[in-house]
Amino acid sequence: MTSPRDVGLEPGVGLARQTEIYLAGVRGRRQAIPFGHEQLERAARGRMSPQAFAYVAGGAGAERTIAANRAAFDRHRIVPRVLRDVSGRDLSVELLGRRLPTPFLLAPIGVLELAHKDADVAVARAAAAEGVPMIFSNQASRPMEECAAAMGDAPRWFQLYWSTSDELVASFVRRAEACGCGAIVVTLDTKMLGWRSRDLDFAHLPFATGRGIAQYTSDPVFRGLVDPSTVERSGRPTPAAVRALVQATRSYPGSFRSNLRSGVGVAAVRKVMEIYSRPTLTWDAFAWLRERTSLPIVVKGILHADDARLAVEHGLDAIVVSNHGGRQVDGAIASLDALPVVADAVGGRIPVLFDSGIRGGADAFKALALGATAVLLGRPYAYGLALEGEAGVRDVIRNLVADFDLTMALSGCRTVAEIGPQCLQLAP
Ligand SMILES: Cc1cc2nc3c(=O)[nH]c(=O)nc-3n(C[C@H](O)[C@H](O)[C@H](O)COP(=O)(O)O)c2cc1C
Repeated sequence: MTSPRDVGLEPGVGLARQTEIYLAGVRGRRQAIPFGHEQLERAARGRMSPQAFAYVAGGAGAERTIAANRAAFDRHRIVPRVLRDVSGRDLSVELLGRRLPTPFLLAPIGVLELAHKDADVAVARAAAAEGVPMIFSNQASRPMEECAAAMGDAPRWFQLYWSTSDELVASFVRRAEACGCGAIVVTLDTKMLGWRSRDLDFAHLPFATGRGIAQYTSDPVFRGLVDPSTVERSGRPTPAAVRALVQATRSYPGSFRSNLRSGVGVAAVRKVMEIYSRPTLTWDAFAWLRERTSLPIVVKGILHADDARLAVEHGLDAIVVSNHGGRQVDGAIASLDALPVVADAVGGRIPVLFDSGIRGGADAFKALALGATAVLLGRPYAYGLALEGEAGVRDVIRNLVADFDLTMALSGCRTVAEIGPQCLQLAP
């Protein structure tokens, strides 16, 4: 079998990836990462503990928002155009002053140690290798400095949960700047955690046992806030409590023995739970943040046109239309249904990004057609991580980009700018 290049064709990433896969098949090799999302999720489930899988896959309440996200994609259908020259396609987009090779970023996902021991660092390597910006989560399993060190000059942003401690917020922002982050993404939809049935069934919250708190325990300001003398030592612990104590103690830098003796691990966990989010936060807070950073400020979790207008009025630099993958409000509007309304309210003044439900190239195409400048990939890369670590994340990204490239070509578009509402029709 010859490759497209052997016969003088510029293949494009889609055809190149297809050829790589089929050529490997001729040699009897199949890909480790399934291509269908349901198969990918099922395979990842087999590699994760039931609690870990529930945390990643689950949503709020009866998970109607997760279902709505998918249903919205299904309602929009692509109407392909034919007999256009679609050779030499250009997938790149301009975003906050930087040209990206594709319209994809990796959404901030906390507690990636639930999927793989290399967690955020494996994702950082994969993102850098594939030229897709990674958004470091505030609830990461590894400090942002470790991820940045694994990425060279590749683009990365930092996602912030606005803590009740101003000093801690300022410290996170300073560290993000020092790590070469290109933007601060403030997540607005998680002033408190949604009512997540699967996690409640397991009585499992990763942060309560010291998982997903590495940005805190690596922070000098946070460490100054931790006071082990506040931890009371009660009677006989259960086996589960001992395991939680060991995990929390391990999550704190320094010697395990002295951390155990001082109780600093447990105190840190309690402190995170106490200060991670500020329920009183309002739009006025952004003037304070603007004074402390020259980085673009992006707000994530916008679903209403009026909030989109307020974001523009408060001088913010970009919006992410997102319902947090259905993890916060059960029965919320699908992210994709909010997208054209928000894009219309913004009127091109700032970029509008999108997430919640991107599972393949056609989904990305539809979001771009409805007004997104770029899209964030969420759960699928966490599943790739669970299956094959860094290589799994790379494959998930490569497959998505290939699928998107082919969808563009087969729909008659040569550039991302050509993807617009005229490419879609609502299902009858
Ligand atoms: C396990 C998990 C952890 C997440 N952690 C964060 C986080 O720390 N910060 C944040 O802003 N969003 C977080 N999100 C939301 C994602 O950034 C994104 O909005 C969501 O995954 C998109 O939905 P999708 O995965 O269904 O496409 C998390 C999502 C999942 C699945």
